[in-house]
Amino acid sequence: MNTLQNKRHNQFGIILIVLTVTVAVLGSIQSVRAEYGDLVLNEIAEKEGMPPAIFPHWFHRIRFRCKVCHADLGFKFKAGGSGINMLKIIDGEYCGACHNGEIAWSVENCNLCHSGKEGLKTQVHGSTLNKLVVPAKAKKKAKK
Ligand code: HEC
Ligand code: HEC
Ligand code: HEC
Repeated sequence: MNTLQNKRHNQFGIILIVLTVTVAVLGSIQSVRAEYGDLVLNEIAEKEGMPPAIFPHWFHRIRFRCKVCHADLGFKFKAGGSGINMLKIIDGEYCGACHNGEIAWSVENCNLCHSGKEGLKTQVHGSTLNKLVVPAKAKKKAKK
């Protein structure tokens, strides 16, 4: 091998290391429950005795086109802007268009949507440092 080839070889090694580290970091970010860009929806939930609903926007955005939700299902481009409530969801509107036990798990799974911490206002979550979701242990304690 001449020196040029050797150098290329080294560069390839460095790129591989960088890639491995990147994948590892991304993997660990995914394990965080509340992610950057999650929406907290709490226009009415807490007033009616339910914890705020958390909508993982990116989780859905990678699975469906924007149009499916923002044109066909009528979701507004504003957190809390669509006037979503449980009656509409059970009627198959908004979240209920998919969370019907066919496209996705059904409305009976209250806690999977109503997983927000008490007191959170409707917002777009901007940082993984803010923990939006109550840890399972704390939830148990609160129930006593
Ligand atoms: C599965 C449904 C779904 C899909 C797919 C989806 N969105 Fe949304 N989006 C929502 C909901 C729900 C809200 C909040 C609406 C509300 O609270 O009334 C929202 C809010 C927003 C907002 C305002 C909040 C913010 O983050 O600033 C923007 C902008 C937005 N969406 C852009 C997009 C774009 C761009 C795409 C496609 C790449 C997309 N959405 C795909 C459901 C969806
Ligand atoms: C266009 C279809 C669609 C709409 C509309 C939709 N969802 Fe989903 N959602 C899905 C699918 C598909 C999954 C994945 C289900 C599975 O893994 O079995 C999912 C999963 C989820 C999850 C679990 C995410 C995870 O990390 O596993 C939550 C929470 C959720 N949806 C909340 C909502 C809320 C709240 C709304 C309304 C604001 C909504 N969804 C509207 C299709 C939809
Ligand atoms: C697919 C997600 C999802 C599931 C599953 C779900 N909800 Fe909701 N729920 C919402 C959203 C979104 C809102 C509106 C949030 C807001 O802005 O306050 C809401 C609002 C509510 C409200 C406020 C009052 C009203 O009439 O809307 C109550 C109470 C409620 N849900 C109870 C429940 C119960 C009980 C269950 C289980 C049987 C449940 N929800 C399952 C998403 C869900």
